[in-house]
Amino acid sequence: MTQIITVGNGKGGVTKTTTAVNLSYELSKKGKRTLIIDFDGQGDTTKFYLEDETPHYLGDVLLDRKFDINQAIYPALVNGAVQDNLFIIPARFDDAMTKLDMDLFSAPKREERLKLQLQKISEPFDYIVIDTQPGTSVLGLNAINAATRFLFPTDYSEHSIDGIEKLLTHIQDVLFVEEDEINYTVLPVKIDNRKKRKNEYGESYTSERWANKVAKTKIMDRSVFDDAEREHLPLSVFSKGHVAARYYSSLAAEIIND
Ligand SMILES: Nc1ncnc2c1ncn2[C@@H]1O[C@H](COP(=O)(O)OP(=O)(O)OP(=O)(O)O)[C@@H](O)[C@H]1O
Ligand SMILES: [Mg+2]
Repeated sequence: MTQIITVGNGKGGVTKTTTAVNLSYELSKKGKRTLIIDFDGQGDTTKFYLEDETPHYLGDVLLDRKFDINQAIYPALVNGAVQDNLFIIPARFDDAMTKLDMDLFSAPKREERLKLQLQKISEPFDYIVIDTQPGTSVLGLNAINAATRFLFPTDYSEHSIDGIEKLLTHIQDVLFVEEDEINYTVLPVKIDNRKKRKNEYGESYTSERWANKVAKTKIMDRSVFDDAEREHLPLSVFSKGHVAARYYSSLAAEIIND
């Protein structure tokens, strides 16, 4: 069965896009047929995997009930070459995503359109990874309703951890469920070994609050992620032998073995 992983945090800039991009790449490298969907308002994920604007994008999938979702699924490009097992439903780079959110507002079944469309994919995926934007929106509701599990990246700051708490409450409201019915994993990111007090705070908060929900993999703070982002490349392609190249491969293994 397809696992649909929505990557989210109520706070901005906590590596949602980096996580979605690198996790989906590593899943595809492990032979899993993977689709990444770009719900980020700035089309950040799309910049990693496509060079030019495509004829179709997420908006066609969500706005037009009769649109064939399979037409908006494009092979992902890495360094200009088609990446085996990796596909993308792109966003747009201009303000089309804000307009899309407004247009969806009055559409029937506006919160479930992604979920309904995903059922019409003709060649099933092992994993679908959804990159989201912070805050609440109709787009965000679609990403929540479609998910079979959630991945919450967070650094060890109070703001970022609070961003998970807010999103968890929001998901409970949207899905009409209790917290223990939600399938989610907290992913510690941007961990800097030199920041001892911050790490103590983050580790004790996450382990007490989310005992069995914290990923074994931790993503350390490495400036090479910025460099890879500028080149629009997954880290293990940008810098193959780098120690950081193993982080998301290890996370992908953890998710597959779960
Ligand atoms: N492990 C890491 N160590 C250091 N910097 C990182 C790491 N992972 C990502 N970054 C950098 O942090 C910045 C924010 O990351 P990213 O864009 O993935 O966050 P986001 O949650 O998607 O942001 P937004 O809310 O704007 O969509 C980027 O410049 C990225 O390169
Ligand atoms: Mg982002």
